[in-house]
Amino acid sequence: MTTHHSAVDAHGATVAEMFDNIADRYDLMNLVMTWGQEPRFIRDTVNAVKLGPAPKVLDVATGTGDLAFEVANQRYGAEVYGLDISNEMLEVARYRPGGENIVWQTGDAMNLPYEDNTFDAVTHGYLLRNVTDIAKTLEEQYRVLKPGGMMSCLEMSPA
Ligand SMILES: C[S@@+](CC[C@H](N)C(=O)[O-])C[C@H]1O[C@@H](n2cnc3c(N)ncnc32)[C@H](O)[C@@H]1O
Repeated sequence: MTTHHSAVDAHGATVAEMFDNIADRYDLMNLVMTWGQEPRFIRDTVNAVKLGPAPKVLDVATGTGDLAFEVANQRYGAEVYGLDISNEMLEVARYRPGGENIVWQTGDAMNLPYEDNTFDAVTHGYLLRNVTDIAKTLEEQYRVLKPGGMMSCLEMSPA
């Protein structure tokens, strides 16, 4: 698949290329790096979000879609969007079982392609380490959240 990273800065293009190159191995690497705990981390991150029926939810930097699938599976009638800067990561997500029920979009977390007040919740996992401007990234999530909407974030750091 051809990749198009023209709308992102040089750092974004480098990050996208790196994830494009590991997309087919990412899930296994992640499971190993979290000592097999990744499914629980994903569940806990989604459980932290309080949602009404049929919510509209965005998973930023969705990668192969773990958080997006967890929302779709947990919340009946949810309208789920998964956005990532890497086309190849999104290709892996798209072809997972149930992938046809989620809207996958290429885009930059620092410049989200959505109107203000669009989502009931935003999730993201392991995103903040990859962006050059964390404040702008969080501002964008706040902007696209509806008033009273919730953000839930999965990150890891040395103790
Ligand atoms: C470590 S992976 C995490 C994937 C997924 N959230 C998970 O929990 O497994 C980081 C992801 O962030 C994406 N990413 C990095 N910078 C981004 C940006 N500026 N905008 C959107 N996605 C970005 C990468 O392409 C990659 O898929």
